[in-house]
Amino acid sequence: MRKVLLLVVVLAAACGKKAETTGDPGSAAEPAAPSTPGPHGAAAVRAANDMFKTVCAACHGENGKGDGPASSTLNPKPRNYTDKAWQASVTDEQITQTILMGGAAVGKSPAMPAQPQLKEQPDVVKNMVMIIREFGK
Ligand code: HEC
Repeated sequence: MRKVLLLVVVLAAACGKKAETTGDPGSAAEPAAPSTPGPHGAAAVRAANDMFKTVCAACHGENGKGDGPASSTLNPKPRNYTDKAWQASVTDEQITQTILMGGAAVGKSPAMPAQPQLKEQPDVVKNMVMIIREFGK
C-alpha cells in the first residue's frame, strides 16, 4: 500500500512539472496522463466479484470448491477454497502472487492463469483475496 501511495505522489510531482512547461511549443497537444490508478471502494469490490464469476469460477466453481465446468479435465484440480487446511497454509501475499503471476511462476499448475494486468489494480486484487478467504469461513 505504501508503494501505491508513493507512486501517486511521484505521478502528482510529474504532472506538476508538466504543467510548468505548458509554454513550450507543441506541448499543448500532449494528451493528459490518466490520473486514476484504478477502481477504488465499491467499484473495486464489483470488479473483483465480476471477474471471479466470469473468469475464476469456470475452474474454481461459483462456490469456490474447485469444481467449475472447466475443472473436469484438469490435473491437479483447481484449488478448493473451502479447504481450511489450505487456507491456513497460505498468506494473503502468496495468494496475491499466484493471481498476478499464475501457477507456473509459483511452482503450481501452469493451468492456473496469470493476471498481470491486475498489477495496476491492487484494490481489485485485494478484494479478490477477500473473496477467496470468505469461502474458507
Ligand atoms: C483454467 C482454470 C483456472 C482458472 C480460470 C483460474 N484458476 Fe486458479 N487454479 C487453477 C488450478 C488448476 C489450480 C491448482 C494449482 C496447483 O495446485 O498446482 C489453481 C490454484 C489457485 C490458487 C491456489 C494456489 C495455491 O496456493 O495453492 C488460487 C489462490 C487461485 N487459483 C486463484 C484464482 C483466481 C483468483 C482466478 C481468477 C482470476 C483463478 N484462480 C482462475 C485453475 C484455474
